[in-house]
Amino acid sequence: MTDQLSEYVRNQFPALKREFNGQPVAYLDGPGGYQVPESVIAAVKHYLIDMNANVGNQFETAQNTSSMIQDARDIFAEFFNCSWDEVVFGANMTTLNFALAQALARRLTSGDTVLITEMDHEANRGPWLQLQDRGIEVAEVAVDIGTCSLDMGDLRSKLSKKPKVVAVNYASNGVGTISDIQKIIQLSHEVGAITVVDAVHYAAHGPVDVKKLDADFLLCSAYKFFGPHIGVMFAKKEELSRLSPLNLRTQHQSPPFMIETGTLHHEGIAGAAAAVEFIADIGLKAGNDHDGSPGDLKSSRRNQIIDGLRAFEKHELALTDYFIEAITSKIPKATVYGPARGHPRTSTVSFTYEGYNANQVAKYLGNRGLFVWGGHFYAIRLVERLGLLDRGGLVRIGISPYNTKAELVRVIDALGKEDELQKFVKRKTS
Ligand SMILES: Cc1ncc(COP(=O)(O)O)c(C=O)c1O
Repeated sequence: MTDQLSEYVRNQFPALKREFNGQPVAYLDGPGGYQVPESVIAAVKHYLIDMNANVGNQFETAQNTSSMIQDARDIFAEFFNCSWDEVVFGANMTTLNFALAQALARRLTSGDTVLITEMDHEANRGPWLQLQDRGIEVAEVAVDIGTCSLDMGDLRSKLSKKPKVVAVNYASNGVGTISDIQKIIQLSHEVGAITVVDAVHYAAHGPVDVKKLDADFLLCSAYKFFGPHIGVMFAKKEELSRLSPLNLRTQHQSPPFMIETGTLHHEGIAGAAAAVEFIADIGLKAGNDHDGSPGDLKSSRRNQIIDGLRAFEKHELALTDYFIEAITSKIPKATVYGPARGHPRTSTVSFTYEGYNANQVAKYLGNRGLFVWGGHFYAIRLVERLGLLDRGGLVRIGISPYNTKAELVRVIDALGKEDELQKFVKRKTS
């Protein structure tokens, strides 16, 4: 993004005006959830003022609600590159994944295997691990802890057990590694497995193309990319049609409705659609960045979404390079955990700081208006495999499109002042 576009992006986020302890807040907690632009706030407000009703066709606001949800499905179809009836809305990714696991389990029999990974967030492990109660075997693909990436050799060997389901994340919310998800899906299909991809972390950082990936199910959460707190799932129509999810007889029995239970989070859906439109709008503006010509208004919204995410990615990865270089060279007590240089990654950088646990470091930074998370971020197995679970986990810096180099310089400066960190920790414990 040009400086001008970066400034435009920042100006869209009212939350960035917040100060804490006399310092502007730097939201470096993106992998936990993004701030939202004014247009998303406006869409939620507009829904609640002008459309608030249950779905139906008997009066105006009910009709408007139905068409708003249909429009949102169309927008997410472009986001995923699928058709509208493959877009499922839910409370959050975890709840959708539990419903999916329960539905898929009705097709499995005792002795069948489900393959999960050590890299995944618990939201893509727990729903599968609990199937062990029904006699389903759950195997895990190992993480190569030296490179914080999936051990592809171990994946191939575990696939030889012919699992019925392979549940895997696109990118790690713990350390930022992007996995070769297309290859994993292809290998899984070769042994007849259905694939369930957790794209919650990835979806904020790059375009998802379910057609190209040939994914069966892929889940994400709108609050990780500028939207409200809802979950969204792509479900391949042939696969969804074969499921018999647990639901009420009032539920439509056709895709995508059959796996949605009860009244949806209408205002959340309105905001989520606006979040994708925000990305597309940046894509349109970033057209200027690429070749000096104005963004092509005729290009499809899908192309605008891709351009927007690519523009964000470029901005984020430049800052990531700066941050990794600075922390490695200037903070000798910090150890960065993540993929090897050159391996595909997101802008999420995690580290430990010798002598202090992650919670202490995160609170110290938070006290300076640098909002970052410390702990395991529910990537519990990964953090355990790194040998850090009993030691407080990792400090995580999530770099988002509205973050700046100046904010990261503040983080490096703060980390460089160990005496102040020590004083802060002493004060808190005395
Ligand atoms: C990679 C990943 N998967 C799944 C989840 C769970 O998402 P949700 O909060 O929508 O259930 C998260 C949340 O942090 C995540 O980062």
